[in-house]
Amino acid sequence: MKQTTFSRTLVEWQRSCGRRTLPWQAFDTPYERLVSEVMLQQTQVATVIPYYERFLKRFPTVESLAEAPEEELMRLWAGLGYYARARNLQRAAAHVVSNLRGKFPTRVKGLLTLPGVGPSTAAAVAAFTSHEARFPMIDGNVKRVCARIRMIPGRVGQKTFEKKVRQCAKALMPGSDLIADYTQGLMDLGSQICRKRNPKCTLCPVRTLCRAADANPEDFPKPKKSL
Ligand code: ADE
Repeated sequence: MKQTTFSRTLVEWQRSCGRRTLPWQAFDTPYERLVSEVMLQQTQVATVIPYYERFLKRFPTVESLAEAPEEELMRLWAGLGYYARARNLQRAAAHVVSNLRGKFPTRVKGLLTLPGVGPSTAAAVAAFTSHEARFPMIDGNVKRVCARIRMIPGRVGQKTFEKKVRQCAKALMPGSDLIADYTQGLMDLGSQICRKRNPKCTLCPVRTLCRAADANPEDFPKPKKSL
């Protein structure tokens, strides 16, 4: 498969059919993008939206978050769960204010030094803010899309499966000119088309590039073993 065909097709689809008006998409700045990506780590988009808007209204800058009283931070986070995320975000803000003169990192290497920021969050924030295209963003959506495109055998969490997904995700990536819309496009494809159950292959922009489309896409990746 021509790798560039995949990324160009996905970007074109993202621009015409993907999500373009999510509140965090109004920003290409790292503070606003980190807040949204951290909220989205374990919480669905529709739930995150009102929380995100309230959070940024109350803490519009990294300085305001760094100085926030803990009880106010927790009140704004109440209902999102996983409260360690809020504490880590505030620690990250405090670190940026105290040690980086208020300048948030926009590249993966710098982002990874912040508490609560792992490779997937760092790659997404870097793609959206500095258009860095060196490290693929790999979340559950990307694992599923890659597993189907290449018919990668195995289960999420298995060593060889994860390695093959990483190779695939890296091989499919475009350059920095397209990386922002490409990264969003993968998330949009995963949630709108290439869904875990009942994928909408007839509407898929990259169907002709997908090996599993003519097999049974729901078999990829194999479901986790139940205990
Ligand atoms: N999930 C994680 N990051 C996201 C984003 N930027 N847009 C939509 N869903 C997401």
